[in-house]
Amino acid sequence: MKASNDARAYGGVARFFHWTVALLILAAIGLGLYGANLPSGSQDQLQAIFATFSVHKTVGVAVLFLAVLRILWTLTQTKPKPLHPHRRAETFLAEIVHWGMWIGMVIMPLTGWLLHSAAPGGFSRILWPFGQRLPIVPEDAHLAERFAAFHETGWWVLAGLIVLHVAGAIKHTVIDRDGTLNRMAGPAHKAPEPPHAEHRTIMHVLAAVAGLAIWGATALLAAPEPAPAAQAPAASQQTAAAPADAAPAQAAGWAVQQGTLGIEVVQGGNPVQGQFANWTAQIDYDPATQAGKVNVDIDIASLALGSVSSSATGPDFLNAPAHPKASFVADILPPAQGGQHIAKGQLTIAGKTVDAELPFDLTLNGDDATAKGVMQVDRRDFGIGAGYADESTVGFTVAISFDLTARKQ
Ligand code: HEM
Ligand code: HEM
Repeated sequence: MKASNDARAYGGVARFFHWTVALLILAAIGLGLYGANLPSGSQDQLQAIFATFSVHKTVGVAVLFLAVLRILWTLTQTKPKPLHPHRRAETFLAEIVHWGMWIGMVIMPLTGWLLHSAAPGGFSRILWPFGQRLPIVPEDAHLAERFAAFHETGWWVLAGLIVLHVAGAIKHTVIDRDGTLNRMAGPAHKAPEPPHAEHRTIMHVLAAVAGLAIWGATALLAAPEPAPAAQAPAASQQTAAAPADAAPAQAAGWAVQQGTLGIEVVQGGNPVQGQFANWTAQIDYDPATQAGKVNVDIDIASLALGSVSSSATGPDFLNAPAHPKASFVADILPPAQGGQHIAKGQLTIAGKTVDAELPFDLTLNGDDATAKGVMQVDRRDFGIGAGYADESTVGFTVAISFDLTARKQ
């Protein structure tokens, strides 16, 4: 078998790439869907999800490398000529689908890897000894969500293109009986001789543009609603709307400009960080007395925690459907020794309220403030993860941290 393509048939290398990448893509789709639909009730079930996604990611990364090599190889190759150049629409459609698949075989694993890299924490690992995260990509729950949205919509598009492509191959084999499949699969000598046809560059360019447009439309479709703008605008609206008498005499409202609210849990012995995308904070603080009040509302379902966000917010843990909100209502106390302010009040999670103290550092710069702090809570106080009575899967201590900037209103 010849390694290179000619005008009649694909060579050995192109065939190897075509069938390996095809098989691995189908495996990745199967594993992704299987993993996404596994139950996550027990410890064993969680482990099964991690294991499935580890294989999914590893297969996907293999697709990425093979697809890049395949593209580089294809660029050096002659393309077998269309067998029915006079069937313009059909040839054009096949070419659009090929372009869509060329882009899809890179963009799908890439967005998977980007989502894996941006996800705070990251539970199931790519099964290889090299790095896990792509360089430059910041750990950012919002970014991870956006890549995840693309990845979750994109596979439908890729699968749709594959269905069209396979339908085309079947049609050529069963209806046309024209040997198209032989060019890619069968013995090369059985490949038919393609007729001569004029070369219409414009059609190739249009097919490429259409292929790109398919993925551009996918990106638009997967784009989130215009900025729920996590904390900042929502927080400032709430603060501005706070009734004046809710604040102590001299205290002024402070609007959160930007910030993060995160948790860290120890999962299987490894610390894993997650972030809430949606939360609001009403802050009243008087720099003169260094005291005030704070009222934080947290949308539990907005937690991104590696690939187990849904089980973390599911019935065994935070149980977002039953308790969609957590809150922290506290008085801000002036700094004691050590120079840290303390927010002392009630923390409500999963419907249970406990007394909590959150020490934090506050730096004032005119009307701007930067604050950050961490408190440790015990998940058992809130009845969270009651089915996980020891710490082998999920540790008892959970660190809740925030880091924000606010401006005096
Ligand atoms: C599993 C069933 C599949 C069958 C039966 C099949 C069949 C074929 C055939 C017969 C060709 C040659 C078309 C021609 O000569 O004009 C071809 C080309 C191609 N296939 Fe598939 N294919 C399959 C799956 C896939 C998958 C999953 C992908 C990737 C997403 C893929 C991507 C491509 C691409 C990009 C080409 C164009 C190759 C080139 O021009 O270098 N195929 N396929
Ligand atoms: C050929 C490449 C790939 C295909 C076709 C693919 C396909 C899929 C599919 C079908 C799902 C399930 C989507 C759903 O539940 O709606 C999924 C989920 C996922 N994939 Fe991939 N994937 C690929 C590569 C990768 C790679 C390389 C990584 C990471 C390194 C990755 C990470 C993930 C993650 C983390 C999820 C779960 C997403 C979530 O929970 O939102 N994928 N993928």
